[in-house]
Amino acid sequence: FKIPEILNEPMKGYAPGSAERKGLQDALAQMEQDLPFEVPCIVNGKEVRTGKLAKQPMPWDHANHLCTYHEADPQTVTSAIEGALAAKADWESLPWNDRAAIFLKAADLVSGKYRYKLMAATILGQGKNTWQAEIDAAAELADFLRFGVKYVEELYSIQPGKNAPGNWNRLEYRPLEGFVFAVSPFNFTAIGGNLPGAPALVGNTVVWKPSPAATYSNYIIYKIFEEAGLPAGVLQFIPGPPAEVVGQVIAHPDFAALHFTGSTFIFKKLWKDIAANLDNYKGYPRIVGETGGKNFHLIHPSAEIKNAVLQTVRGAFEYQGQKCSALSRLYVAASTWNNGFKDLLLTEVAKLKVGPPQDWTNFIGPVIGRPAYDKIISYIEKAKAAGGEILVGGSGDDSKGYYVQPTVILSKDPKSVTMVEEIFGPVLTVFVYDDNNYEQTLELIDTTTAYALTGAIFASDRKALIHASNKLRNSAGNVYYNEKCTGAVVGQQPFGGARASGTNDKAGSMAIFYRFVSARSIKENF
Ligand code: ALA
Repeated sequence: FKIPEILNEPMKGYAPGSAERKGLQDALAQMEQDLPFEVPCIVNGKEVRTGKLAKQPMPWDHANHLCTYHEADPQTVTSAIEGALAAKADWESLPWNDRAAIFLKAADLVSGKYRYKLMAATILGQGKNTWQAEIDAAAELADFLRFGVKYVEELYSIQPGKNAPGNWNRLEYRPLEGFVFAVSPFNFTAIGGNLPGAPALVGNTVVWKPSPAATYSNYIIYKIFEEAGLPAGVLQFIPGPPAEVVGQVIAHPDFAALHFTGSTFIFKKLWKDIAANLDNYKGYPRIVGETGGKNFHLIHPSAEIKNAVLQTVRGAFEYQGQKCSALSRLYVAASTWNNGFKDLLLTEVAKLKVGPPQDWTNFIGPVIGRPAYDKIISYIEKAKAAGGEILVGGSGDDSKGYYVQPTVILSKDPKSVTMVEEIFGPVLTVFVYDDNNYEQTLELIDTTTAYALTGAIFASDRKALIHASNKLRNSAGNVYYNEKCTGAVVGQQPFGGARASGTNDKAGSMAIFYRFVSARSIKENF
């Protein structure tokens, strides 16, 4: 068999009057009419209603919530783990082409039948505007599913290549022994599909705890897998209170791997908990995580100003700065800042309209919830107290939803708190460097934070661009030349960072799949 050609999902434009705009509008109207939904746990393909109810709010509307979900209780978690272990033999022995077909069909359901429903759930529940939802819940999710098939096909074809006369050597890519635990985030619906999906594609069974703030969109993904033919038990869907569920899953002797996207703090805690349990496991669990960032743009004096400003605005403020890749510290040469960059930046930021995400004219929607809102506002206050100058924005409004004005802070101190710590909101801190201190600025960018996820360098001078890129070689796992530091595309820019930003196993590439197999080397004599 040969798998079909794999292409990136084409992005739709949602122009007024277009069929896709109508499709999405209808899906939004239907969802707003029918909410709140009820979401069960799903264990061995069966709905489990624990009666331990929690709500997924809508961050733009305190008066309503998107769904009520049943939190997994200890018995449900135990059943999910046992079910995953029981389902594994059948799943891993299903021919590769059949596993691949399920994922390709799921991708088609994402890009076709369920596109607008998934997007509506992402818009209403996670506060993305239409274009951010299109990039994520439609395109990136379909891409993860399709490119996964391509990469696993390639991985399986990597073989030793040399045989001595009379023997045949080969590698067999077994799934891990035990079960995989996927803990997915709120900020990308697509990652909700990829964290359980990638290990499952190579034959693992997965216990999956979605983010409470993305429960409904992630439940739709589960149902899509089911409709595509994924056998019951391969994915065990257990929304629940993080500390309890996670502790119980990690303590299990058959825990074989963690596939995580979320905060650095939680990832480190999980790593330590896993270490503490090491003697109880059959093997050494694989730990794969993508965590925080404090991502930078560097503007060299030779940069083309208009492009650098427009990319900066998008990098910092799309999805309210809640992408792990979002820009949050900007280093601009004084000559550039004073010769048009500052004015254009402030003009462009002032144009960004803030409001409910389903209103097509709003660029900025709400941040995800109360703790996020309070944290972001407190960082703005800390910046002010430390002498930071608020150039635009600087306030919020939590009366109806959790809205924070897009905020630009000018900091004279390159190590002020908002230059160093992750905020995860629409807050950009600018340090204007003296053109004569360029080399020191490169050093600063590299050493200011613990993170190393994304960064971008803007320069027309090619030599300067490459010099900066070399100096910042370890400062970001994804670097962009003359383009914003967000928006990695599956199959085009493998994504992930090192240092405190994660294990850099590169989502959207073949590398990630290698982490979820345990190869067996076979030698046979004839
Ligand atoms: N693909 C997402 C981005 O790079 C994570 O912004």
